[in-house]
Parts: sequence; C-alpha cells; structure tokens
Amino acid sequence: MNQRYAVVLAAGQGTRMKSKLYKVMHPVAGKPMVGHVVEQAEKAQADQIVTIVGVGAETVQSYLGDRCDYVLQEEQLGTAHAVLQAKEVLEGKEGTTMVVCGDTPLLTAETLDSVYRFHEEKGAKATILSAHSEDPTGYGRIIRGANGEVEKIVEQKDATPEEAAVKEINTGTYCFDNRALFEALAQVGNDNAQGEYYLPDVIEILKKQNEVVTAFQLEDQDDALGVNDRVALSQAERLMRERINKKHMKNGVTLIDPAATYIESDVVIGSDTVVEPGVYLKGDTVIGEDCLIQAHSVIVDSTIGNGVTITSSTIEQSVMGDGSDIGPNSHLRPQSVLKEGVHVGNFVEVKKSTIGRHSKAGHLTYIGDAEIGEHVNLGCGTVFVNYDGKKKHKTVVKDNAFIGCNTNLIAPVTVEADTYIAAGSTITDDVPEDALAIARARQVNKEGYVSKRLQKAEERQSESQK
Ligand code: UD1
Ligand code: CA
Repeated sequence: MNQRYAVVLAAGQGTRMKSKLYKVMHPVAGKPMVGHVVEQAEKAQADQIVTIVGVGAETVQSYLGDRCDYVLQEEQLGTAHAVLQAKEVLEGKEGTTMVVCGDTPLLTAETLDSVYRFHEEKGAKATILSAHSEDPTGYGRIIRGANGEVEKIVEQKDATPEEAAVKEINTGTYCFDNRALFEALAQVGNDNAQGEYYLPDVIEILKKQNEVVTAFQLEDQDDALGVNDRVALSQAERLMRERINKKHMKNGVTLIDPAATYIESDVVIGSDTVVEPGVYLKGDTVIGEDCLIQAHSVIVDSTIGNGVTITSSTIEQSVMGDGSDIGPNSHLRPQSVLKEGVHVGNFVEVKKSTIGRHSKAGHLTYIGDAEIGEHVNLGCGTVFVNYDGKKKHKTVVKDNAFIGCNTNLIAPVTVEADTYIAAGSTITDDVPEDALAIARARQVNKEGYVSKRLQKAEERQSESQK
C-alpha cells in the first residue's frame, strides 16, 4: 500500500459559530468535531496525520495530544494557505495526501478509505470526494466538462448562475499525490470574491497540466455535512445520534424512542438492555446486558454491570455491580461503588463511598466518604456526617450492621459487624461488634400533661374576664 498522509484543516476560528470556543472543538455526540475527523482518519490507516492549527488553538493541540503532528497557520488566508503550512512536514514525500476539514464530523473511515483506494486505482493526481445535494448553498460546486470529466471547483461566492445551479458539491475532502499537491499549491492565487487562497483551485491547476483528476461520489450526502454555524451543529448532532442509536439497536439494545435517547459516541451497551426516553449516556460509560435504564436518567463516565435497574437517577464516575438498582431520584457522585445486589432507593446521595454486596439504603439518606460492608441496612434518613467545616472524615460500617432510621454517624467513626443502632441516634463513638448502640435522650412521659395545661389556660381566661 502507498504511504497515506492526512492533513486536517482546523485553523479557522469559525466566526459563523459566534463562539469563544474554537469551531472544531465544538462537540458532536460529546466529542469535539476534530476528534471525530482524526479518529476516522486513523481508522482509514493514515500513516501520519498533520493538523493545521491557528494561533491560540492550544485547546485543539492539548485535546488531540500526540496523535498528530501540528503546524501553525498564523493567519487564516484560506484553505490552500492552510495546507501549504504542512510543507515543512510533508514536502517531497512519496505517497497520497488526504486533506479533510476539521468541521465535517460525520465522515466515516469507510468513506475515507474508499477515497484513498479510488484515488490510487485511478492513478490520479487529485480526487475530490463529492456529493449530490438538493440544496448546495454554501458549498463549492464541481464543474464538469462536456465529456463529464472534472474541470474545476467554483465557490458559491464566485459562481455564475449556471455554476450555482450545479448540485454536485465539494465535500472539502480530497486525495492528492503528495508531490503534485505542493507543486500546485505554490501556484494558487487569491484573486476571488473572498480574497482567499482556495484549496479547490489546485484541481484546475492540475487539470490544466493534463493530470488525471477524478471525483468519488459519496452516496449519503448527510455524511459530508460541514458545520459552519449552530444550525448545522444541531443537524450534525441529530445525524450522529441517529447513527449511534442505530448501531446499538443492531447490537441488540432496545431504545423505546431513539429520537429522544442521547448516547455519546464512545458508550458501550450490552444486549437486551432497555433504554427509555430522555436518557443521556455520556463519556466513557459502559453498560452491561439485561439492564433497564428508565426515563430521565443521566449516566456519565460510569461502569454498570449486568441486570442493573436505574430509575430517573444521575450517576457520575461511579460503578454499579451486577443486579444492583437505584432510584427514582437518587445521585451517585464521583468515586462511588455499589457492589453486587446493592439496593439504593429514592432520594439517596452517595459520594466517594463503597457499599458492599446486598446492602440497602432505601430512602432519604446521605452517604459520604464511607466504607460499608455486606448486608448492611441503612434506615430512612441516615446521614453520614463527614464534614466538620474544614475536613472530610471517613466512616466505616461493617457487615450486617442495622442502622436505625434518622441516625447521624459523626465521622470519623467505625460501626463494627453485627451491630444495631437505635433509631434517632447520633453516633460519635465507635460501636463494638455485637452491640446495640443507643445515643439519644431517654423518653420521659409526663402523665396528664395536656389536660392540666388546658385547665390552667381556662382558669387564666375566666380570671381576666372578671
Ligand atoms: C470549504 C470549501 C468548499 C467546500 C466546503 C465543504 C474552500 C475554499 N472551500 O468551504 O468548496 O464545499 O469547504 O465543507 O476550501 N481553515 C483553515 N485555515 C484557513 C481557512 C479555513 O484551517 O485559512 C479550515 C477551517 O477551520 C475549516 C476548513 O478549513 O475546518 C474549511 O474552512 P471553511 O471556512 O469552513 O470553508 P467553507 O467555506 O466551508
Ligand atoms: Ca466549512
């Protein structure tokens, strides 16, 4: 196979986005657009990827890291000028260079690979990835000669009415013979409506030199969507969502209403899991088989085992073991681990805590900085008092402890195994194994109190009326 290079154009500020964020850093399905493009180029086996970045685009570079080489384009003078900046890295190399825009996040590795192959098979010096578009507004048009051969690309702003009527568009992705590319780039001028150096002009230059120039037509024009503003961003999001959701359904996941289910690109879901509407699955989340993720749950960067039920709850950077369940309306904050068969009911917040197998926290409980053993029962309204205003402290509750309702566990404190804590206790000292701890004032019943009080009140009233 020929050496494959890829140049990713990512230096444009993206003024049409009206944003503080660099255009290519805007996420689609949770991943910056440029991340999608680079990932697909990697999958299409590009041996070297050069990303063109603009001044102040540290975010792009720090996000992509060492997956690419970077070249700075100090001033955004156009797409040809942008590619020319890669000269120092690529000039003189033998092979095929693909140029792809950082704002076309829907292009797939299969498409990119097909363009590389088509280009190589045709022995072309340039191959354009083109698409048919019913509404070509904003895109460059592919102008073909009488014999159907590609002659040039004309930008919308430079097009004559006949040219503007053409519905074959430039997707902004091309393959070039690397040497021919840099030779032709030196000849590109900026005498056009935008005063920019247009990369598409390379096509006409090569054509005039009688080189072979071809176009590979993309079947699904949606895949070529270029995101220039927030309207297109929302279209890209929808198309990507449809693609992701379809993949999961084909893999055996039931989505009750795919149009209302939001799953980011890298999420993994096992078969026979059912996802209800309004669910948002984000980041590096992995969900097992046979789970039920009920309406309006949000799961971020978490690992969920098999047979887990999640009901209208929020789970962040946490782990849920097989057969555990949570909700409705509960919250696992970062670094929480629920082991196998744990039951967390409604209105429970867990933070940086581990809950052992088959333990339960059914209702209205706060668990923070705790290590809880197996078969522990936390009664309604248990509060792990972990913060003294300055520091966080740890609580340990060992196996089979039964914590009565409305207990405060003032950390640091340890409740040993096989213990009872009486409801309403405020526990400040460790509880030894096998003990019952009662830490509340003893009840006093004042007999006849109510009627005595009433009688006194009546006496006072009749005196004042005298
Ligand atoms: C470009 C093409 C157009 C094509 C469309 C497909 C040109 C002149 N036009 O138009 O034919 O139909 O893409 O989406 O190439 N960039 C730089 N440096 C620059 C200018 C742009 O890095 O100096 C980058 C941008 O960040 C962007 C990409 O190049 O990722 C494309 O630039 P953009 O301004 O969006 O071009 P379009 O007007 O969409
Ligand atoms: Ca664009």
